[in-house]
Amino acid sequence: MQQASQRVDGGQPVALSANGVPLLDVRDLTVSFPAGAGGTHIVRGLSYSIARGETLGIVGESGCGKTMTSLALLGLIPANGTIGGEINFGGRNLVSMTQRQQRHIRGREIAMIFQEPMTAMNPVMTVGRQIAEVLVRHEGLSKKEAGKRAVDLLAQVGIPSPARRAEDYPHQLSGGMRQRAMIAMALACRPQLLIADEPTTALDVTIQAQILDLMLTLQDEAQMSIQFISHNLAVVSEVAHSIMVMYAGKAVEYAPAEELFSNPLHPYTQGLIKTLPDPDRQVKRLYVIPGRVVSDISAGCRFARRCPLADEGCRKVEPELVEVAPGHQVACLKVAS
Ligand SMILES: Nc1ncnc2c1ncn2[C@@H]1O[C@H](COP(=O)(O)OP(=O)(O)OP(=O)(O)O)[C@@H](O)[C@H]1O
Ligand code: SF4
Ligand SMILES: [Mg+2]
Repeated sequence: MQQASQRVDGGQPVALSANGVPLLDVRDLTVSFPAGAGGTHIVRGLSYSIARGETLGIVGESGCGKTMTSLALLGLIPANGTIGGEINFGGRNLVSMTQRQQRHIRGREIAMIFQEPMTAMNPVMTVGRQIAEVLVRHEGLSKKEAGKRAVDLLAQVGIPSPARRAEDYPHQLSGGMRQRAMIAMALACRPQLLIADEPTTALDVTIQAQILDLMLTLQDEAQMSIQFISHNLAVVSEVAHSIMVMYAGKAVEYAPAEELFSNPLHPYTQGLIKTLPDPDRQVKRLYVIPGRVVSDISAGCRFARRCPLADEGCRKVEPELVEVAPGHQVACLKVAS
């Protein structure tokens, strides 16, 4: 897979577009909630970037902050949450925009595919009408034009008999069809950035592969950037140019995809790679990283309770992300020192 060109900027790798500016450049992003509402800092000091036409994969276990990071990009975090840092998109900082300005960008320039389409689609409106509404709102098309284009989009994402399917309600479609319909809705305004949050987790393996293929084809055609989120490193490896591994709200490793697989340095990443099935070996049970994410630790490395290399020092000092090779960053005291 073609690799992003990299520039090192204050210790952070930055994926560059042809014009030298990344489409998305997130700097020191934090998402916090009042204490007692499930923790304070849910996302802590995240910095990453995505060039035009590129895919960044974000992996990490349930609860590590993947969805919250995406919702921050869309200005959709729950009302009691606070965002800090910068989200520079096409040269504008989304964090300092008004809600109205954010709404303008949402759906038109940045679109999101959610894990379970039923939660994001309107159950009492036909699929065709939902897609058409996006086009009327954002592209200013007439209802008739928008209806026609909605059918075209359903055809484009591989839905058979699209004119008939456009008349269906979401519950009348199979899981795979619904996910395709949601992709059609997300692509309706030709977004520059598509956020795909576990887009295939609920689907069977064949449909999963079709959906991934479809996203890559559409990416090639439109030079769309993708932020692809999954807890499954195997799925991410099929689509991502770069990968950021998150643990308990922070990035613990961030590297070009090939580098991450050939030279994983963080013990958590190494554990994730060990959990992948080896196609050359018949294994009855896959490796599982012992323990679970603990975010209520006030000092030291948050992975320490599960890390095979942890020592006393790890329980005292929280490791920062450090660049160890061009474009390859790791947050582990044993690697950086
Ligand atoms: N409204 C809220 N107030 C406080 N904390 C919240 C709120 N919503 C979510 N959280 C917490 O934020 C953390 C990150 O959640 P998030 O949904 O981003 O995780 P995730 O990585 O997407 O997980 P999954 O793989 O299960 O989708 C979780 O610990 C969750 O409990
Ligand atoms: S800092 Fe220590 S506990 Fe944390 S990942 Fe590195 S070795 Fe493991
Ligand atoms: Mg999530």
